[in-house]
Amino acid sequence: MSKPERHVFVCVQSRPEGHPRGSCGEKASLALFQGFQQAFEAQKLWGRFLLTNCGCIGPCHAGPSVLVYPEGIMYTGVRVSDIAVIVEEHLLGGKPVKRLFAEPEVWPNDV
Ligand code: FES
Repeated sequence: MSKPERHVFVCVQSRPEGHPRGSCGEKASLALFQGFQQAFEAQKLWGRFLLTNCGCIGPCHAGPSVLVYPEGIMYTGVRVSDIAVIVEEHLLGGKPVKRLFAEPEVWPNDV
């Protein structure tokens, strides 16, 4: 296994209904993760990039949250319809998608 160019983490954390922190899971993050899986499959990205579902990565209130390394870019409010632009511009093009950046007080996306 070679070192991936980029590693995408998609938060699929769920919490009980009414929990004060909410969760990405209640905002359809599992469908988002599955959408990334489908994009990886369709565009044959496996091997070059890694995709991992994960627990809470911080900004639950603004989820679904996606974190991409090695840059450490945090995206929030990500929808299935945003997958294509993340793949094309960030993963393949190396240019993070600023319109999806987490608010700076939540995460310092320094680019
Ligand atoms: S539950 Fe997804 S960031 Fe906290």
